Amino acid sequence: MCGIVGYTGRRQAAPILLEGLKKLEYRGYDSAGVAVLDGNALQVMKRAGSVENLSAAQAFAGSVGIGHTRWATHGAPTKENAHPHIFGRIALVHNGIIENMKALKEECLARGEKFVSETDSEVIAHLLEGYYEGDILAALKKTAARLTGSFALAVLCTEEPRKIALARRSSPLVVGRAEDGIYLASDIPAIAAKGMTIYALEEKEFALLGEGEAHFYGEDGREIEKKPLEYSIEEDVPEKRGFRHFMRKEMSEIPQSIANTQQIMHAYPQISALREVLCHAEYLHIVACGTAYHSGLCAKVAFEALARIPVEVTVASEYRYRDPIIRKNTLIVAVSQSGETADTLAAAELAKRSGATLVAVTNVRYSSLARLADFVLFTAAGREIAVAATKSFNAQLVLLYALAEELARAKGRGACGAELLSLPALAEEALSASEGVRAWTPHFLSAKSVFFLGRGADYCAALEGSLKLKEISYLPSEGYPAGELKHGTLALIEEGTPVVAILTSSRLAEKTMNAVHETYARGAKVFLVTSLPEYCKRREIVSSVLLPDCGEIFSPALSVIPLQALAYYVSVARGCDPDKPRNLAKSVTVE
Ligand code: G6P
Repeated sequence: MCGIVGYTGRRQAAPILLEGLKKLEYRGYDSAGVAVLDGNALQVMKRAGSVENLSAAQAFAGSVGIGHTRWATHGAPTKENAHPHIFGRIALVHNGIIENMKALKEECLARGEKFVSETDSEVIAHLLEGYYEGDILAALKKTAARLTGSFALAVLCTEEPRKIALARRSSPLVVGRAEDGIYLASDIPAIAAKGMTIYALEEKEFALLGEGEAHFYGEDGREIEKKPLEYSIEEDVPEKRGFRHFMRKEMSEIPQSIANTQQIMHAYPQISALREVLCHAEYLHIVACGTAYHSGLCAKVAFEALARIPVEVTVASEYRYRDPIIRKNTLIVAVSQSGETADTLAAAELAKRSGATLVAVTNVRYSSLARLADFVLFTAAGREIAVAATKSFNAQLVLLYALAEELARAKGRGACGAELLSLPALAEEALSASEGVRAWTPHFLSAKSVFFLGRGADYCAALEGSLKLKEISYLPSEGYPAGELKHGTLALIEEGTPVVAILTSSRLAEKTMNAVHETYARGAKVFLVTSLPEYCKRREIVSSVLLPDCGEIFSPALSVIPLQALAYYVSVARGCDPDKPRNLAKSVTVE
């Protein structure tokens, strides 16, 4: 959700900014821009579209600069609305949303100031210029006090040409100190290099960078000592390794992600403290967004079946404004690949404030969520670049299943570890079987709508299959409980409508087949994802993918794989870019 980057030091800034922005494009890619100071001279380039369009800015001289890649909130993705925003002596990049921008803008307009963009961010440049009296940090503190909403801000001022001032509220910001200068970015991999010391700005903190130094300040304005993060540069530098897209490559890594996550869980250093908490847990709330929300829904099936405690799974943006009932001994599990999703963070904070113990399930070790949590369980899926989550979802499931088993043990109930341990090998089989969906694509290419049906855990997998198809192929689709179809949605089934049924539970199979019959009778083309071979040859079925059996409760960890593959192949066949779907971003740091 917008990525920002900056540098002040001995090197030329422009190449560093452009390289950093490329690594941040997963946060938004509808427009981009950089500003570089050469002495007091400010050079600015902004372009609609991706960071590649800024390549001419390589030639900018100067060793201080800021850059931005945008996911539009206020204003269309045009050159004018791209950051940096300039006003007077100020240039700034912003990640977040300013909620009181209307009132602030009116104040500036009343002073006769002119605006050139439709963004909420431009008003911040105006406030800064108004408050500037020779000290950019002081101006930023005054400005931040006027802003409602979320922001990570990096600010240049032509009168203090070696400095960059930073402020953070809700949106992430990290600083890297290296021998050749000071770096900043929305996330660590955008700037990390060997020997760099990395610091994270926490809520409401400020920083002033320049002359080889980084100074940090708390909300009260006093300088603070910051502990560096114990970060080591990731070994898995994201490359496509011969695959056409990151998404396909990341799917191929599902078995490894599952195996690595299981290992991490087995060696979890805080396991006895966690077990103690689990012993007393009486209610479980899971909060998450998007794909992570679906992993929570899948996990609810396992938590309830194995541990028999009540589980509530809520979309984080609803939970945070719902005044949820958080009783004594409520455990809150916040699931987030990035660990930076604004709504998930806010929901987790709310529950923590109300006395719940917070367990974070995240793929990013130093994320804001990880820093907030009482217990951090890492999904060892490795970096995920494609906007549509795949391997991180499977890793989340495996981790949540392991947690469900721990909870079951803590409650004195049996567990079924053996089935979980076989998941990496079974996922490998499921991946091979999933290639079969490639042949299904012609039936989906111009579908008016697509339906994914299932019951129980299969329904949860259906929701994720539907989301994947929507987000990367732009086909309208719905995941539906098989038994609910006849209460309205059946009206949408027409001759040729593609229906994907998920069938992994022999207990529920015939019941789901009722819905299949009902759609087939109305002309639907039914495709099947199943672990039950006896259903593959049913006359209603156009084609099926046969998966290995891993038990009803854990089945989404495998049944989602052909659904991810289907979305991928349909996306490619429709000429979309599965790695960078329109209008979306991987890390959503605004609400
Ligand atoms: C965005 C991404 C989704 C992701 C969701 C939650 O919408 O496009 O793929 O599932 O955010 O992200 P998180 O990092 O919290 O799992």
